[in-house]
Amino acid sequence: MEPTREKPVVVDAGADTILDGSRFIRACLRRPVDRTPVWFLRQAGRYMQEYRDVRKHHTLIEICKQPDLAAEVTITAAEKLGVDAAIIFADLLLPLEPMGLPFEFQAGEGPVVHHPVRTAEHVRALRTDRADDLAYVARAIQKVAAHFRDRLGIIGFCGAPFTLASYMIEGGGSKNYIHTKQMMYRDTLSWRLLLDKIVKVLEEFCRLQVQAGADVIQIFDSWVGSLGLADYREYVFEATKRLIRSVQQMGVPVIYFGVETAGLLSEMAATGADVIGLDWRQPLDEGWRAVGHGHAVQGNLDPITLFAPIEILELRVKEILRAANGRPGHIFNLGHGIVPTTPVENVQAVARMVREFRLESKVVPVNG
Ligand code: CP3
Repeated sequence: MEPTREKPVVVDAGADTILDGSRFIRACLRRPVDRTPVWFLRQAGRYMQEYRDVRKHHTLIEICKQPDLAAEVTITAAEKLGVDAAIIFADLLLPLEPMGLPFEFQAGEGPVVHHPVRTAEHVRALRTDRADDLAYVARAIQKVAAHFRDRLGIIGFCGAPFTLASYMIEGGGSKNYIHTKQMMYRDTLSWRLLLDKIVKVLEEFCRLQVQAGADVIQIFDSWVGSLGLADYREYVFEATKRLIRSVQQMGVPVIYFGVETAGLLSEMAATGADVIGLDWRQPLDEGWRAVGHGHAVQGNLDPITLFAPIEILELRVKEILRAANGRPGHIFNLGHGIVPTTPVENVQAVARMVREFRLESKVVPVNG
C-alpha cells in the first residue's frame, strides 16, 4: 500500500531552494537553513494507532524483515508527523542474528538473547561474514527512498559497538552492566576482539544502507552513559571512532547519539561524528558548548514533556530553539525515544511549533 503523496514542500531561502530532506542534511553539515529541521526518536512506534494496527498482524521482527511493511511503517509515521526526516523502521539488535546470536522480543521484557557472550570462546565463535543477511533493511530503505525522493532525509542506523556489545554480553537490557564491564576489565583481549567483530559487521551493514539510499547514518550508543570518562576512552573510543570514520568515508554524515552523556560529550565529539545527540539533562547550549561548535547537535526535549499541557510543551520547545540561537547545525529532536502512551497530537504539535518558529531577533527576508 502506497500512502498518498503530499506535494513537496519547497521553501524559498534566498539563493537556495530547500526541500525538507536537504534542510535536514544541510543542518547535519552545519550549513545554513531556512528553519530548524525536526524529527523524533522512535517516531514510528506503539504510541501511533497506525503502527499498532500493523502490529496486530505481525511481530516486530516480521515488520523489520518484510521491506514492504517496514517501508510502510516508516513512511506513515513521517508523513503523519510532518517531519523533515524518516528513520528506517528496523531494530538495533538485527545484526546479532547473522553473527550467530539468535534473540527474541518478549512481551514486557524487551529483547532476550538466548546464548549471551560470556567467554573468549564465545567471542571467537561469532561470525562476521554474513552481514549480507541484513539486506532486507536495505530493500526497505530503497522503497522509502523511492517514495520520498529528495522530499525527506532518510536515516539509516545501527547500534554503537558498546551498546551492541552490552546486549550480546548481558543477554538483554541491564541496570549495572556487570557482565559487560567484567569482560572489559578482566578479559580485555576478548573485549577488543568482540568490538572489532561488531565494527566489521556494522561497517558492511551501514554500507548496504548507504548504497540503498540512506542520506545519513545514526549510531545509537543508548547505554554508553553507564561508562565513566576513563573507561570510555580506554575501552570504547577507538572502535567507535573507527566505525564512524568508515561510515563517513561512504559519503554520508554520521549522527552519534547517547543518553546520560553529559560527562562524555567532548570525547564523543572527538570520534569525529558530524552530529552529536544530546539528552535533556542539560540545556542545549551547555551541551553544544561541551560538544564544541565545530559539530552539529540534535535534541533535546525530554520525551515525557510530551505529556505536559500544551503551554508548557511550547515553553520547553521554544527554550531549546532559543538556546540554539539560529546557529547552523541544530536538528530538533527528543533526548530519547517517544514512549508508548504518548499522545500523538502532542508530537504533531511539537513538529508544527518547530516548523513555525522564528527567532524574534532575526530579520526574516520576505523575498529571499
Ligand atoms: O521510528 C523508530 O525509531 C523505529 C525504529 C527503531 C526501533 N528500534 C523499532 C522498535 C529504532 C531506531 C530502534 C532502535 C533501538 N532498538 C534502540 C536504540 C534507541 C533507543 O531507544 O535508545 C534500542 C536500545 C533497541 C532495542 C530494543 N528494541 C528494545 C530495548 C526494545 C523493547 C523496548 C520497548 O519499548 O518495548 C525494542 C523493541 C522495539 N524496537 C519497539 C520498536 C518500535 C517496540 C515496539 C514493538 O514491540 O512493536
